[in-house]
Amino acid sequence: MTDDPITTGTSRRAFLRGTAAAGAGLMAAATTARAEGPDPLITDVQPWASEFGDPVDAAPYGAPIRFESHVVRRNVEWLTESPVSSINFTPIHALEGTITPQGCAFERHHSGAIELSKADYRLMINGLVETPLVFTYEDLTRFPRHVMTAFCECAANGGMEWGGAQLEGCQFTQGMIHNMEYTGVLLRDLLAEAGVKPEGKWVYVEGADASSNGRSIPLEKAMDDVMVAFFANGEALRKEHGYPVRLVVPGFEGNMWIKWLRRIGIYDQAVEGREETSKYTDMMPDGRARKWTWLMDAKSVITSPSPQAPIRHGAGPLVITGLAWSGHGKVARVDVSVDGGKTWAPARLSGDVKSKALTRFHYDMNWDGQEMFIMSRCIDETGYVQPTKQALRDIRGVNNVYHNNSIQVWWVHADGEVENVEIA
Ligand code: MTE
Ligand code: CO
Repeated sequence: MTDDPITTGTSRRAFLRGTAAAGAGLMAAATTARAEGPDPLITDVQPWASEFGDPVDAAPYGAPIRFESHVVRRNVEWLTESPVSSINFTPIHALEGTITPQGCAFERHHSGAIELSKADYRLMINGLVETPLVFTYEDLTRFPRHVMTAFCECAANGGMEWGGAQLEGCQFTQGMIHNMEYTGVLLRDLLAEAGVKPEGKWVYVEGADASSNGRSIPLEKAMDDVMVAFFANGEALRKEHGYPVRLVVPGFEGNMWIKWLRRIGIYDQAVEGREETSKYTDMMPDGRARKWTWLMDAKSVITSPSPQAPIRHGAGPLVITGLAWSGHGKVARVDVSVDGGKTWAPARLSGDVKSKALTRFHYDMNWDGQEMFIMSRCIDETGYVQPTKQALRDIRGVNNVYHNNSIQVWWVHADGEVENVEIA
């Protein structure tokens, strides 16, 4: 499963040994990081120091260095029949911090990613409004602009894991998620321009692609924090994420985040798009259905160590890291267990904790080199505690696909390899 080439050069390890000893701090005593004789990476002049590097215009728009070429979106071929109505996964095992670069953020299309220029772009608002309107891209840029960071998680994230541990890697088990900093205009400002009639209760949104992905959003949400976005992570949206304009619906499931947004219709009831959808209902074991399950509950996952990111440095200091999020607001706490859930200790929340956005956590420990069952659980600001998989199954059964926010367990072997498992 491992695809990271970091250990293909033993010299890097030697380099770490040589330098870490110099900066000896709290951890150094427990590490094997100390100089072991002459290291050519320290003593010899290297080729990269003997000649010029690339000129400034070698790459007008840069791509990651070749050593990072394994950090890419991946798909699971057997999952869907056709690649144009499919999904791929964010390599969360190999990323740090909270922002997902657009180039490796998961994609979900129902009829493929379309190429729509700003010149050809139109956005219509109609239905129960005082004045039906059509905006060009330029028109949208004249409304007050806002910046917000939000996670977008497909409701099917983790769906393949309901029945049992299946896929080796958090990229595949939890990677239908990305987190970007968006710039755009608030939907409520556009709606105010059109004037929503008092009978208007639902906002129907659809895309310009063949599937249209039409969905209905309650008016209260549309008037709250929904954004009509045109920038992500400081640059224009990528084609696959909805260029030139997509909807950002913080905390709500990904399928409502309409890409290539072309129409906003105000209605007195929820309407569905061309694609038949039962997306807002989850079947229960007794045949009843949970309705309107669009809010994404609190969830977390340890991204490293994990099956695609095994431990390579042996016993001693170990940094456990992962991501936590909640569609209900901020992450309040993340607990980590390294003994299969018998005991828990709080992790550090690193960086800013933003509402309805990914939060990074770190847990620093001294690993004795024995096997361990590691897991994380998120507690959000409402007090909601991320459930175990069994607790979720007890309520919702095993025939579910959507909204699996249960605790992920990784089995770390003594040799550092990691496996996806469940514990009773
Ligand atoms: N919008 C349009 N127009 N067409 C689509 O197929 N897929 C939806 C949503 N918006 C979709 C769409 C689904 S199910 C998800 S999970 C998100 O887009 C995924 O956004 P991403 O491709 O940027 O990751
Ligand atoms: Co989706």
